[in-house]
Amino acid sequence: MALTLSNIQVSEGVFLLRAQMPPIARTPKAGQFYMLLPPGDAFALRRPISIYDYEGGVASFAYQVKGRGTKALSRLAEGSEIDIYGPLGHGYEFEDKDSVFVAGGLGIAPMHYALKQFRRAYPHRLADCFLGFSTEPFLLEAFTEDASTVTAKQGGYITDEVPCIEGRAFFCCGPEAMMRALFLKLGEGSSLQVSLEKRMGCGVGACLSCSVPSREGNKRVCKEGPVFSAREVFF
Ligand SMILES: Cc1cc2nc3c(=O)[nH]c(=O)nc-3n(C[C@H](O)[C@H](O)[C@H](O)COP(=O)(O)OP(=O)(O)OC[C@H]3O[C@@H](n4cnc5c(N)ncnc54)[C@H](O)[C@@H]3O)c2cc1C
Ligand code: FES
Repeated sequence: MALTLSNIQVSEGVFLLRAQMPPIARTPKAGQFYMLLPPGDAFALRRPISIYDYEGGVASFAYQVKGRGTKALSRLAEGSEIDIYGPLGHGYEFEDKDSVFVAGGLGIAPMHYALKQFRRAYPHRLADCFLGFSTEPFLLEAFTEDASTVTAKQGGYITDEVPCIEGRAFFCCGPEAMMRALFLKLGEGSSLQVSLEKRMGCGVGACLSCSVPSREGNKRVCKEGPVFSAREVFF
């Protein structure tokens, strides 16, 4: 069990939850996620939420209220216990290369922690961020410390702003149409990793509800993903 330290609204329908994890908890890798049990959920179905930040045993999650589960999460009070299971899945793999981070909407959640981890591993490399929002941008300031540049856009297509520069590594999270558009723009030969979203049952590879087709047969988003090479899953 984790302890809710704070759970505040940062934008219309978007919350930032901070939870003190138990001492035995593992530090997550960038792009990994956790299964959070909404309090009072009679069906006890956990919801997958990406790691937004992790520091000193405190895990942070940025989430949007979509339905019953996330609505219940938004009502979690400071000081209450929360059932959090993880970290799970396969995250982003960084290289010693100048890198570009592209996110749309709540895709900024995993991208924030990815940027932070990349900066720690490769402080000498460029890390350019492109963040797209359909509403007023939120949590932007959290990116400025670790990013070389931050480009934010409200409305339109953030992928239009991303330059195709050879030799760079690209990391993306957001609506699937946006990630596909970026893949088309960068081309098959580019180094692009994308984080897929699928409805999940177990979160640990057992129920197959999150399967997606790939070049090498079906893959489970919760186990082999959520992060994949774009050319593996977009074909
Ligand atoms: C690996 C992973 C990481 C995620 N990380 C985040 C995150 O950091 N922040 C965040 O806000 N959300 C994230 N999500 C999405 C989040 O899990 C869903 O929004 C949430 O489970 C919805 O639960 P609910 O009970 O509120 O909504 P429900 O009542 O279950 O559904 C409400 C609506 O949301 C749609 N929906 C539900 N789950 C998904 C899904 N997985 N993908 C697309 N649409 C869905 C439903 O079709 C429905 O229209 C992530 C999903 C995955 C798979
Ligand atoms: S959610 Fe059960 S296999 Fe992925």
